[in-house]
Amino acid sequence: MIKNKIKNLDLSATLKINEISKNLEKEGKTIIKFGFGQSPFPVPDKIVDELKKNAHQKSYLPIQGLQELRKAISIYESKKKNINISPEQVIVGPGSKELMFLLHISFDGDIILPSPSWVSYKPQSIIADNKYHWIETFPENNWYPSADSIEKLVIKNKKKNYLLILNSPNNPSGQVCKNIKSISQIVKKYKIMVLSDEIYSELTFDENYESISNFCPENVIISNGLSKWCGAGGWRLGYFVIPNELNKLKNSMKVLASETFSAVSAPIQYAAISAFKDDHKDFILKSKKILSGIGEYVYNNLKSNNVIISKPMGGFYLMPEFLNKTFNSSTEMCKDILKKKGVAILPGSDFGFSAEKMISRLSYTDFDGKNFMSNINLDTKVDEGLIKKYAPKIIEGTKRLKDWVEKG
Ligand SMILES: Cc1ncc(COP(=O)(O)O)c(C=O)c1O
Repeated sequence: MIKNKIKNLDLSATLKINEISKNLEKEGKTIIKFGFGQSPFPVPDKIVDELKKNAHQKSYLPIQGLQELRKAISIYESKKKNINISPEQVIVGPGSKELMFLLHISFDGDIILPSPSWVSYKPQSIIADNKYHWIETFPENNWYPSADSIEKLVIKNKKKNYLLILNSPNNPSGQVCKNIKSISQIVKKYKIMVLSDEIYSELTFDENYESISNFCPENVIISNGLSKWCGAGGWRLGYFVIPNELNKLKNSMKVLASETFSAVSAPIQYAAISAFKDDHKDFILKSKKILSGIGEYVYNNLKSNNVIISKPMGGFYLMPEFLNKTFNSSTEMCKDILKKKGVAILPGSDFGFSAEKMISRLSYTDFDGKNFMSNINLDTKVDEGLIKKYAPKIIEGTKRLKDWVEKG
């Protein structure tokens, strides 16, 4: 009584590894949780205070989102992108993941996924009955597709509609897309729709975040939310900015929203106004300082002749490839690491790599972000000494992995 396409789907890999880790912990083992990609930082106090103040808000809010919140988001995005975005272009949902799902359901065409890509894009396109295509990427191109490789795919059938999903900074690679301009030329030439998943954009380690929407705004849906920079994944608030040219699509997503979640929780929407309206610069700068310091530590200590990694550029992930290991699949490899060393990482196959490639995703977030943050200033250098003190599991996990690489 279950549809075949649904029956064959598995629980999200990220959640599964978290469950296995918890079970091992119950058995008394110390597990280093490098599998789950959750922000280690608290929600800024000011935003939490707004939530407390608005706990009494109980009415259903507009389907598209609270007007004042959409206005705050439109101003925030307009400033970031240096273009004029109106509140009408913004739709608020219970997490950007849910909005992506509604987009997949509405969209009639094929999905283009760079390999690697975040775990949920593929299952969402399967559920929505959209054909998906993987595009191979290489470290020389920061693990993003080249404009040529996209053109080669769409040229095969120019009559189709295409939706390209780009995520920068990237989960799982930790890299930032540097060939956005050349991709945007192909996007314009073939009228490809782009979902620009910018959920990690505030956590770009250098200051110059560049969105593909700067080059072809009429083709690009911007996706973002509170889950990563604001540490509020569990609050479930995300948004899309949809160009006026795609108004019909926005309206059909609104219909789907009205028939599913109705509107995002009222207190959360009121509290979120502060996230976009107020200044959280110091909080974000400290978050980035800690994340880039830790990312660099893991990168420097793990990379070797046998371990290939690209230096992290944003977000909180690294993607090590273990050259001296042979298992039947990357899943087998990750199970071996978890069993022998108690370190949880995710197999590359969950992100679109072939199972035989011994590649994995490591999330360097297993530390108490609140404590770390309250012990540094904006000019503190996050070095090994500080990491030892405030993020000891990062040191221990890196050591265990290195040990596994060298001795098995
Ligand atoms: C690349 C990427 N996009 C989207 C999401 C979903 O975010 P949200 O909490 O807004 O649904 C995640 C969360 O893990 C993510 O890693």
